[in-house]
Amino acid sequence: MEKGNSIYQGKAKELYLTDQPEVLWVEYLDQATALNGVKKDKVVGKGQMNNQITSKIFEILADQGIESHFIEKISNTEQLIKAVGIVPLEVVVRNFAAGSFSKRLNVEEGVKLPFPIVEFYYKDDALDDPFINDMHVKVLDIASDEEVKEIKELALKVNEELKKLFASVNIKLIDFKIEVGRDAQGNILLADEISPDTCRLWDMDTNDHLDKDIYRRDLGDLIPVYEEVLNRLNTL
Ligand code: TMP
Repeated sequence: MEKGNSIYQGKAKELYLTDQPEVLWVEYLDQATALNGVKKDKVVGKGQMNNQITSKIFEILADQGIESHFIEKISNTEQLIKAVGIVPLEVVVRNFAAGSFSKRLNVEEGVKLPFPIVEFYYKDDALDDPFINDMHVKVLDIASDEEVKEIKELALKVNEELKKLFASVNIKLIDFKIEVGRDAQGNILLADEISPDTCRLWDMDTNDHLDKDIYRRDLGDLIPVYEEVLNRLNTL
């Protein structure tokens, strides 16, 4: 497989073409951002942590019957993925109140929700990724009713598997964000990454943060925390 030109530089990943049109090459970068890129720092070692964690999680999800764009990890910081057209939604699932949910609705962080909820945010940096509902998704022609139903079902299924997976390494899954894409046949496929950048993970015994809130809230050094998550996942 040959690495081609860079086609996209995101906040924490860079995407390259390959000699196969249906395959892309991703490099995870040593970069941390928060507040839609307003806070930004180089964090040496973060790229390889997130690549390894995401690869491990996508492999486990595939074993449980949830396919994603992930093909294979090719180095500590790189993976090959299936090319998909990303649906411009950040799909958030919440099991416990935290973050923007707690702020917006004045519910204390850590309160268990009676059932998991799915939220949509419109992926648009210029608009600061606004919170939207199913009707906005339809009116903006982001996805059809059928796709919205499918995306919600997928998000909840991923939640069930991730909850089990993290519980087995003594971690509580507070909330997380996924992205989905459409493959060449138009099928909805789990995409992007699943890592401590995109999940809130609390230690089950201490409620210590094992995720990017360490960086967002200036709680300390991010690398030992991500390393802890990777080490726990590597015991599986
Ligand atoms: P929030 O509480 O800030 O809305 O975040 C909910 C979850 O989604 C949390 O685990 C972090 C994740 N997330 C991202 O991965 N990217 C984003 O841009 C946002 C807003 C949230």
